[in-house]
Amino acid sequence: MTDHTHFSFMENLFTTYLGLKLRNPLIAGSCGLTNSISNIKELATKGVGAVVVKSLFEEQIHLETEKVIKNDQGGVSTFNHAPDTLLSKRIYDYDEAYSYIYDFAKRNTLGKYLDFLKEVKNSVDIPIIASINCVSNQDWHSFANKIEETGVDALELNIYILPSDWRRSGEDNEKIYFDIIREVRNYVNLPIAVKTGFYFSSLAQSVKKLSQCGIKGLVLFNRPYNTDIDIDTIDLSHGPIFSTAEEYTHTLRWISILSGHVDCDLSASTGVHDHKSFIKQLLAGATTVQIASALYKEGFDIIPEILKGTSTWMKKHKFDTVDLFRGKLSKSNLENPAAIERVQFMKLYSGIE
Ligand SMILES: Cc1cc2nc3c(=O)[nH]c(=O)nc-3n(C[C@H](O)[C@H](O)[C@H](O)COP(=O)(O)O)c2cc1C
Repeated sequence: MTDHTHFSFMENLFTTYLGLKLRNPLIAGSCGLTNSISNIKELATKGVGAVVVKSLFEEQIHLETEKVIKNDQGGVSTFNHAPDTLLSKRIYDYDEAYSYIYDFAKRNTLGKYLDFLKEVKNSVDIPIIASINCVSNQDWHSFANKIEETGVDALELNIYILPSDWRRSGEDNEKIYFDIIREVRNYVNLPIAVKTGFYFSSLAQSVKKLSQCGIKGLVLFNRPYNTDIDIDTIDLSHGPIFSTAEEYTHTLRWISILSGHVDCDLSASTGVHDHKSFIKQLLAGATTVQIASALYKEGFDIIPEILKGTSTWMKKHKFDTVDLFRGKLSKSNLENPAAIERVQFMKLYSGIE
């Protein structure tokens, strides 16, 4: 179990997130570093308030299903079929084996994840948030119930829908979020947080509606996979995997606009690399703040650095608790922040020649 004795400076950082008691609002976000027991133990020792475990991907479940079906057919590959085709049961509609194999595969994939979650829960005494990364509303929700049985404290659903399908309207895309949440809620009593991107035609309204459908928190935002172009090979490549310290402003804008208007907690994610941007997200109204890239770039010592920097700043400004300054600079009293932003933009840019 974690030794808290050297964290006396954190006593006034206590925060409630998703109904859970956190010793402070700094969360290790879901990433490749939250995929091992030893890392999670170290993250706890360094002082994070909670950990979001590496996501189980919806596609992982579908792929595992394909593998089992392939083996069952004596190695005859079914990999030419898109997972969609297999899972739609078109091929196996009347095949009794299908449902058995499908359920078996699902249990096994999840089995490893479930064992891992149980072990994590036994290894640390901070809240552990499991995570599922999903893109569709297709037959995976019952896993959520098994996740609850591991004893984890909450479930984060990373719903990542890139609105690039020409055949689907904004309403079609948005509906998937609500369908997924409704289905998962049928299977679990765990507090649910939804991690989302920012591709909504009316972000403020959509996020507000999401906050009203029974979830306890919204994680803003998932940092999307970015494509790039390599001009030497004249081929497609990928953009930077890690955020930079300048990227926090996008999340900051939306946390400050949305806090006070939504009916659940807000967890800020993207671009927080030091105590300054951590404090800014809290001032804007974030309940908690998640970091991932900073853990890769700076190492786990960034955790005590952020917490110490925050404590020192709080002492300087005479804030005894986080609640005393959380949301102090939220734009919750503004009906349309865009108008104010326009004036600020005109003032600033008209002076630059
Ligand atoms: C290597 C890597 C792996 C990630 N894996 C996941 C994941 O499995 N599930 C998830 O919800 N987010 C994942 N993320 C996204 C992070 O949780 C986070 O939302 C994003 O990186 C923005 O925060 P940051 O600026 O602190 O990195 C990953 C990020 C990185 C860098």
